Amino acid sequence: MTESPHSGLLGSAPTRRTLLKAGLVGGAGVAAGPTLWTRAARSAAPAAGVHLSYGADPTSGMNVSWSTAGSVQAPRLDLGLTPDYGLRLDADSVSSLRVDSVYHHVDLSDLRPGTRYYYRLSHDGGSSTRGSFTTAPEAGESFRFAAFGDMGVADDAARNVNLIRQQRAEFAFVVGDIAYADEGGMGTSRESQQHFGVWDEFLTQIQSSAAAIPWMTTVGNHEMENGNGELGYNGYRARFRHPGNGAAGGQETYSFVRGNVAFIALDGNDATYEYKRNAGYLGAAGDAWLEMQLAIFRSRSDIDFILVGFHQCAYCTNVAHASDGGVRDRWEPLFDRYQVDVVINGHNHCYERTHLMRAGKPVREAPRGSTVDTNDGTIYITAGGGGASAYPDVLPKMSYYTNAQGLKIPELTDYRAVGDATHSVAFFDAHPRDAQGRATLDLEVVASDGSKVDTLTIGRTR
Ligand SMILES: [Fe+2]
Ligand SMILES: [Fe+2]
Repeated sequence: MTESPHSGLLGSAPTRRTLLKAGLVGGAGVAAGPTLWTRAARSAAPAAGVHLSYGADPTSGMNVSWSTAGSVQAPRLDLGLTPDYGLRLDADSVSSLRVDSVYHHVDLSDLRPGTRYYYRLSHDGGSSTRGSFTTAPEAGESFRFAAFGDMGVADDAARNVNLIRQQRAEFAFVVGDIAYADEGGMGTSRESQQHFGVWDEFLTQIQSSAAAIPWMTTVGNHEMENGNGELGYNGYRARFRHPGNGAAGGQETYSFVRGNVAFIALDGNDATYEYKRNAGYLGAAGDAWLEMQLAIFRSRSDIDFILVGFHQCAYCTNVAHASDGGVRDRWEPLFDRYQVDVVINGHNHCYERTHLMRAGKPVREAPRGSTVDTNDGTIYITAGGGGASAYPDVLPKMSYYTNAQGLKIPELTDYRAVGDATHSVAFFDAHPRDAQGRATLDLEVVASDGSKVDTLTIGRTR
């Protein structure tokens, strides 16, 4: 394995959070910080793989990321309330293992809520790439978001990207197995099973959506790249930026609040009993962080729903991977105690949804098309139909969970409410409380051909 020739210069460049005073936008130009990349320009090509992610506060923070085919001079972002821009910000640039591409990031903060910003990405000697995004408004408005995992690079994956645009999602929550750069998926792949160039194909595939709305990603087992950092996450970290407010010891956990919904991203590789390469690296400290987040969010009067996303399934009947006893043992008691409303997983390449669950048992039925109240129980969704090759959907009377010894322990499938094998994306419409104090989260799962897979009205009353 050889390192990219750029890694010595840029591989350890720290993330620099650029304080952007929104009041200055549209006024005099401001250049922040030193230019980090000063080698002679190698590429006149424009920015590629442009993608966004929220900062810790979606009303004021946005990360803008892109790549160039090689090293470039003075990569930068111009920003403004109009396409006249007005603010110029230098990018943080990092390289990654066995690819020539260089990844550029600008972390914007202190933006105005609910405001459209125009950006232009450029470097010396290259043509520019333009785009725009809108920051999250202050609470009180309805909004739509997409959730799914296991996308990869494929025709159905590209169709799902179009679907996310057509459905007017305001952001995407991606629960791992992103580009499948590590084909083996156990974190032990040989070089012949590693295709790090597919990251760029993936970022090109999603740009039509991700350059306009944030894609909030979490890691799956296929992000554990053997030989690429202690956890194997260096390839992922080179390409994605996150809120940076998660458990100490990793960058893969984070939380953010959009309107009346709190989102928590966890690293399922830390808890799984299936492929244990990274199991326990956050451990009790990670769980303490999770409990603190849950306690804070459940006590906040402005938050109705708590949605937790991670890769491996707590409840899924699909016999490919079925359920993971590790994520149950570590996190399910916390989800019960703090009444988490919805858990989103992937890993099994299908769609599934449970009835309302408490203490490992279905406590209330939630058939397709019904209205339920998540004060009564948590709904577990497998949204693994993002585009990677689908697993056949066969509803067995018995499925299994993987236990701490890695054994497949048979169990009943009475928790399953809905299942579907086609590629699909789960969309949620979050609505603020009505006059009776009841907030709703409307689930609509749409297949990549546009057909409806599942609907559910999820309510919570304070
Ligand atoms: Fe997957
Ligand atoms: Fe997976």
